[in-house]
Amino acid sequence: MNTTLESAVAIRTMQPSDIDRIVLIEREIFLFPWSPGNFSDSIKSEYYCQVLTQAETILGYGIMMMSPEEAHVLTLGIAAQSQKKGFGKKMLQHLIAHARTEKAKSVFLDVRESNHGAAQLYLRMGFRQIATRKGYYPAMCGREDALVMQLML
Ligand SMILES: CC(C)(COP(=O)(O)OP(=O)(O)OC[C@H]1O[C@@H](n2cnc3c(N)ncnc32)[C@H](O)[C@@H]1OP(=O)(O)O)[C@@H](O)C(=O)NCCC(=O)NCCS
Repeated sequence: MNTTLESAVAIRTMQPSDIDRIVLIEREIFLFPWSPGNFSDSIKSEYYCQVLTQAETILGYGIMMMSPEEAHVLTLGIAAQSQKKGFGKKMLQHLIAHARTEKAKSVFLDVRESNHGAAQLYLRMGFRQIATRKGYYPAMCGREDALVMQLML
């Protein structure tokens, strides 16, 4: 990546006015996307809602729910054309750093069993699978299991 573009990458708090752009990305990358309401509810609920921008354009987002001693990554997405450039890792590192600042002892997330790319990212970041939720996600043909992953901080 060229240094000028790299330096223009930033992560900031998600605003309600970001939701239209986020939902466009969401619909592009998820088969069962969150609705605009899901994002605005996350902001209203004061979840840790962040966007990754490059030259002011939103390329990705991450939402994490904090509870005493634990953090739960609820969603993480990078626009299709910006994937595999290190942005997902950057956003995840940012969420983990926030969880550490808030004194969480671990970070949890769920990932579809078929989502090998995301699972690979989580494994490389130190997450380990601790459980399976049977039929947790809707799928094209019925339901799909979720892998529950945990990172000890
Ligand atoms: C999963 C996702 C967030 C990863 O973001 P990304 O910017 O593409 O990933 P990065 O470039 O930061 O990759 C970091 C590491 O993750 C792994 N990885 C990411 N995508 C991968 C893929 N498709 N296949 C295998 N490994 C992958 C690699 O190990 C990579 O490390 P490396 O560059 O040293 O090889 C992104 O692909 C995405 O938004 N996917 C669609 C939505 C989704 O599945 N979200 C997660 C829901 S749980």
